[in-house]
Amino acid sequence: DPNRVKITTMPVSGRAAEDIVQELQHFAEKEDKMWQLGKVSGTVYSNSDEHTSLMNRVYAAYSWSNPLHPGIWPKLNQCEGEVIAMTADMLHAPPIGSMTSGGTESIILAIRAHWNVYGKRRGIRHPELVCGTTAHAAVYKACDMFGIRVVSIDCNHRHDSFQLNPDRVSKGITSNTIMIYASAPSYPQGVVDPIEALSKIALRYKVGLHVDACLGGFVLPFVDDAPVFDFRNPGVTSMSADTHKYGYASKGTSIVLYRDNTLRHGQYFSYSWWTGGLYSTPTIAGSRPGALSACAWAALVSLGKDGYRERSHLIVNAARAIADGIQLVRGVKLLTPKPFMVVSFTSNEMDIYRIQDYMTKAGWNLNALQSPASVHICVTLNVVPKVDSFLRDLKMSINQVRNEGKGGRKKGTAGVYGTVGSLPAGPVDYSLRAFTDLTLEP
Ligand SMILES: Cc1ncc(COP(=O)(O)O)c(C=O)c1O
Repeated sequence: DPNRVKITTMPVSGRAAEDIVQELQHFAEKEDKMWQLGKVSGTVYSNSDEHTSLMNRVYAAYSWSNPLHPGIWPKLNQCEGEVIAMTADMLHAPPIGSMTSGGTESIILAIRAHWNVYGKRRGIRHPELVCGTTAHAAVYKACDMFGIRVVSIDCNHRHDSFQLNPDRVSKGITSNTIMIYASAPSYPQGVVDPIEALSKIALRYKVGLHVDACLGGFVLPFVDDAPVFDFRNPGVTSMSADTHKYGYASKGTSIVLYRDNTLRHGQYFSYSWWTGGLYSTPTIAGSRPGALSACAWAALVSLGKDGYRERSHLIVNAARAIADGIQLVRGVKLLTPKPFMVVSFTSNEMDIYRIQDYMTKAGWNLNALQSPASVHICVTLNVVPKVDSFLRDLKMSINQVRNEGKGGRKKGTAGVYGTVGSLPAGPVDYSLRAFTDLTLEP
């Protein structure tokens, strides 16, 4: 919006509180409409005004708090400990873990822990991590931070159904391997990796196994036909489960869990020579927003197992209804064989990104995927009532692309991914960084 007023220097005198709140409420109300319409993939997981009000009231109660100071806010530490214990209980883990700022930080810390315990202590100087091409980008971020080589297994090799193939994982393990990374389920296609088989491999080769259940952690335990994906598999050494996704807590928390305390110590940082005093923190941050820890606790105890079960059934049923519908639509092909929340699809007949662009015109906010070119929707409680409307709009979008034929213009997502596909990685990375620059401008 070119008419937007931008602030680039600190105002000399302050503004009235009412004025500030009014401005932000005006924009928030406008911006929230998008996900409230139920046409956004993932992003906002809860759909209840009552639950939003609970989160806001709990946040307000602890808005100045910081778990770095347990002496001042002991209740918060108890809340964090209880969220860790409840999540561990649900995933059949010992109550050993920590609260982090989100899925990415949980993954970074789990990899740091394995690097310390399964890498450095064993004298490994050139550590390697084995994962599938479906692994979340956070794995690459973590490995970039710690200098770990990623051994990436193609999950679409001979149409593997986007599952990490255990035989190919075995072949990828060397004397430098510190851990295997698997998903339950993965972000792109929503496929749960074969955790039981991977667990056996981890035990055989004495390497760690992280199960990324950032999406599935608070859903799969309540779904009858979900595989055993958690610590009941003896080779699983760590897991991540996001309270801020299907845990229905405000954005900014996740739980990372470990099989034993030696591994958890591997994620901590302590420094006893600091001139500022004895220093030890469990996570990357120093100070942390305690209000968010309180929100995570409130979400878990307010919903309970019954609440999570009921919500999980709604999500899984809606995802499967979308998948069943997609299979009946000519022009698109379902890529998620057994959906839990993510449903991914492509097209053999036309450019899938052009279909996505028409879906965007119809008000949908779907996620573009690549290798292979495809799209997904991550079903949230907001999307549940919109299944029929999704399928109707999808058919309409396909017809529009079909009618346009080859002459259809490649703009929007189709244009971006069309260009990216024709460029080497260097310029694409540069453009991504330039885009990130833009997000940091006023
Ligand atoms: C499977 C999986 N892992 C990790 C993450 C990263 O989570 P966050 O965005 O909370 O850092 C996501 C996010 O969508 C995810 O789907």
